[in-house]
Amino acid sequence: MRIGIIGAGAIGGTLTRRLRELGHEVRVANSRAPETLADLAAETGATPLWAAEVAKDADLVIVSIPQKNVPDLASGIVDARKPDAPVIETNNYYPQQRDGYIEAIEQGQPESAWVAEHLGAPVFKVFNGIFWKRLLADGKPRGSAGRIALPIAGADGAGKKIVFDLVEDLGFDAVDGGTIEESWRQQPGTPVYGKDYGPEDARRALAEAPTERPAEFRAER
Ligand SMILES: NC(=O)c1ccc[n+]([C@@H]2O[C@H](COP(=O)([O-])OP(=O)(O)OC[C@H]3O[C@@H](n4cnc5c(N)ncnc54)[C@H](OP(=O)(O)O)[C@@H]3O)[C@@H](O)[C@H]2O)c1
Repeated sequence: MRIGIIGAGAIGGTLTRRLRELGHEVRVANSRAPETLADLAAETGATPLWAAEVAKDADLVIVSIPQKNVPDLASGIVDARKPDAPVIETNNYYPQQRDGYIEAIEQGQPESAWVAEHLGAPVFKVFNGIFWKRLLADGKPRGSAGRIALPIAGADGAGKKIVFDLVEDLGFDAVDGGTIEESWRQQPGTPVYGKDYGPEDARRALAEAPTERPAEFRAER
């Protein structure tokens, strides 16, 4: 696939490395000029571009930037992807450590629904609950003991199948986390977040998620 990645930090850089290893064509951007990604490009063979260019004709787009920076993305930034190409976002809202106060999320809008609104495109929430070092190194072949399960939230259909297959190819068990409206079940502070569960425990944890956002993941005002 041709994959465009917006964000080249811990997660965007890791996905660039892993997806290049799997043989995908990767176009990657940070908030600055493509030259600033020369090392990552030389290491992986990915093509560095400006953020406004990476989604063009992509089969899949990944947005992996701090939540507070999402409103800085150019309007329509994923619009030039191929028709029906899915958009993944890996983001988390960390109000106390990084992102500050975001009214709609504090009022209960799921973090990913807020991102989708800003992008003007539906998204899949995935990779938000796995530490980047584990994403880099702990993928295992299908059927292996101790394979980590990753929940995927987003609309059912062909896009979700593409995202499920990608997660499996990266070495993780894909677990259905429901729609984007239900994606709060995998947000920071939920029972599944950051855990190395297999599929059964991941499904149980998603089902047991409390509706209330934990205090440590609310903004201090
Ligand atoms: N770190 C983890 O293990 C982990 C795990 C799961 C989920 N997440 C979540 O995934 C997201 C990314 O996390 P991270 O740890 O990869 O962050 P990070 O290491 O701080 O990297 C952030 C990246 O986003 C880029 N960026 C910021 N604003 C941008 C903009 N307006 N346009 C284009 N690129 C922009 C930065 O570019 P510059 O270098 O030019 O600023 C940088 O490449 C966050 O929401 C985080 O909570 C992180």
